[in-house]
Amino acid sequence: MDFVASHILSVTQFERVDIDSVFSVADRMEPYAHRRRVTRVLEGAILGNMFFEPSTRTRVSFGCAFNLLGGEVRETSEIKASAIAKGESFYDTARVLSGYSDIIVMRHELAGSVAEFAEASRVPVVNGGDGANEHPSQALLDLYTIRKELMGRSKGIDRLRIALVGDLRYGRAVHSLCKLLTLYEDIHFTLISPPELQLPENYVQEMQQRGHEVTISDQLESSIGHADILYLTRTQEERFPSQEEADRYRGLFRMNQTIYTEFCEPNTVIMHPLPRDSRGDAGELDNDLNENPNLAIFRQTDNGVLIRMALFALILDVVDKVDSHSREVSWNINRRF
Ligand code: NCD
Repeated sequence: MDFVASHILSVTQFERVDIDSVFSVADRMEPYAHRRRVTRVLEGAILGNMFFEPSTRTRVSFGCAFNLLGGEVRETSEIKASAIAKGESFYDTARVLSGYSDIIVMRHELAGSVAEFAEASRVPVVNGGDGANEHPSQALLDLYTIRKELMGRSKGIDRLRIALVGDLRYGRAVHSLCKLLTLYEDIHFTLISPPELQLPENYVQEMQQRGHEVTISDQLESSIGHADILYLTRTQEERFPSQEEADRYRGLFRMNQTIYTEFCEPNTVIMHPLPRDSRGDAGELDNDLNENPNLAIFRQTDNGVLIRMALFALILDVVDKVDSHSREVSWNINRRF
């Protein structure tokens, strides 16, 4: 695909070569993300960071990624604080905001909303999550993390064994990751969820059509024994018709060190898009795993900055100018990466 000036709305836009391009640019962003060098390549550019749904890491890491490339960030973080609350259409909002920015990241609770917004935008739009539909940058950072974690074990993404656990019905991070993984060879997907929260049938069909192995289960312990990656998720309570219904699924699958030791292979990598639901009765990923070296959740969040820098550099066509607009950092905080 041609990244320059392109919207990023869905992972279906990507072929394997495109993913390789994003990953190789992401690797080149390390000196900047790790605060060894500073680049001003996007000096003067403005990111419109439009989040109409709660977000911590996606919003802040997109903002930081743009700042790390030298650009400025303007942000809306609540529907209440924008004219959408006064009945303004996506069309009008997009026409207006795209006059103020060079690129826009948008998140909204409606599936398809970001695509509708992009159609009216005069600048590229990146999907920061549209309802239960897609979350392309999360899937890219997850895949980048998987690749890095497995590289240390001399494995690649082909022939990966991944167990996805929890709310597979509404989880957009899972949806985008599953679609991206179908581009690789011989993936073994184990889909662990309550029957009502299974991965929608169209995703399963696509996995099978592309020759991947799919196992569906509603039991955690007996299904995770042969996974390279254990990908846990939060119940997406905000997407349920009622809180009562969402409450039924709270705490059904809990991963902790005892279960990990007993049922996982010793080196299984634990991932989660975060936020993890740390309320006592939820606990899909217990704090007692925090010191487990195979817990990759904070490596995922760090990798998010690299991936988002790479997307900006590719879309705004500055990949080869990043280094020539750079210098060493003038401070030293001895941050350990
Ligand atoms: C996810 C999301 O918003 O889809 N979070 C994120 O962006 N890292 C997952 C979630 O909210 O559970």
